[in-house]
Amino acid sequence: MRKLANCHDIDDLRKAAKKRLPKTIFDFLDGGADDEVSLRHNRYSFDQYTLVPDALTDVSKINMSTEVMGQKVSFPFILSPTGMSRIFHHEGEKAVARAAAKAGLIYSLSSNSSVSIEEIGHLTTGPKWFQIYVWKDRSLVKSFISRAREANFQALCLTIDVQVYGNRQRDLYNGMATPIQLTPKLVLDLARHPNWLFHMLSKGQPNLANLPSELGSVSKRVGSRAKYINSQFDRSVTWKDAEWMIKEWGGPFAIKGILNAQDAARAVKIGATGIIVSNHGGRQLDHAASPMSVLPEIVDAVGGRADIIVDGGIRRGTDIVKAIALGAKSGMGGRPYLYGLSAGGFTGVSRAMNIISDELNRDMSLLGVDKIDKIGARHIRHRPEQRPYPQNL
Ligand SMILES: Cc1cc2nc3c(=O)[nH]c(=O)nc-3n(C[C@H](O)[C@H](O)[C@H](O)COP(=O)(O)O)c2cc1C
Repeated sequence: MRKLANCHDIDDLRKAAKKRLPKTIFDFLDGGADDEVSLRHNRYSFDQYTLVPDALTDVSKINMSTEVMGQKVSFPFILSPTGMSRIFHHEGEKAVARAAAKAGLIYSLSSNSSVSIEEIGHLTTGPKWFQIYVWKDRSLVKSFISRAREANFQALCLTIDVQVYGNRQRDLYNGMATPIQLTPKLVLDLARHPNWLFHMLSKGQPNLANLPSELGSVSKRVGSRAKYINSQFDRSVTWKDAEWMIKEWGGPFAIKGILNAQDAARAVKIGATGIIVSNHGGRQLDHAASPMSVLPEIVDAVGGRADIIVDGGIRRGTDIVKAIALGAKSGMGGRPYLYGLSAGGFTGVSRAMNIISDELNRDMSLLGVDKIDKIGARHIRHRPEQRPYPQNL
């Protein structure tokens, strides 16, 4: 097993995660929808831009801190909401929240988390957002909003791209279900990963910690996440519901899953203070545009009235530099820290954050800028696709 100290980029952490996790679990983390075109394009759309550095500027002191939706962060990267993190490592969401707080970064807790809102709320004083969906039962939505407020979450993040569950074919082939259902194939897979298995058996299977017991039992009965989400999420949700939620919350509010200029402008109009440009890491609608490909039109439409956050495909400091040069306020990502979590719990998430922070620091020096707000349009050029991107990750 590769030691964390020998992981020098996020891809090294991915390889370490792949070794430690059963294939079924790694594929659930790593995979995307259908043919995984959006998943690949999220990465490769960063390569379609080049950077243009400033020469002979004083970069003896680099200040990477900035503000996102009114919150000070040590560098512009937010930890995206990801459900059921205890499935990757027994330390789960607690490790992620602690590592984010230590790094001075915002952690957005998923409503499908395996540790409760209250536990995470009271665990750290770091900046925290709560991610919410629209359930059929609106009283559940109301209760989530008041629980998030009481547990000191500073902002709400509404995910709008899960009208139905994406077609994650790796999970279908692997028979991935939560709670885990033992098949002969899975037993073999688990036996090859004794470390993960030992912790799962001794610490107990993760469950959806935020849901009331009656829904918890629904999720158990239906077996797969797809069935659970398709039965509980409201497909008739519209802008009216989003507007109602923004009013109900009454504070900083981001909408996650926006991919066009018109929707971004509409989100601002109903009171959103953050626009998260995202295709859910390529896990929902395959062939959905990559965040970087639509970022310029969204920046134009928003015109500085809300903070724009790019979510998906960020693996390098240069990816964050490119997003900011095109007008984003921050980058955001899920897999980078989940690879770290899977490889080594709290230490692994911290390693992931250190890698990104060190890269960003070095990249700013080499770009010739000492402050985040000095990164601008003059530092980036579009380089249209010249080669097909690889089919296999
Ligand atoms: C394992 C996993 C679980 C996720 N669960 C959620 C979730 O519960 N809520 C949500 O809004 N997004 C969820 N996402 C999407 C992430 O918030 C984010 O949009 C995505 O990971 C960004 O792409 P990246 O992984 O390339 O950074 C999940 C992503 C992964 C990989």
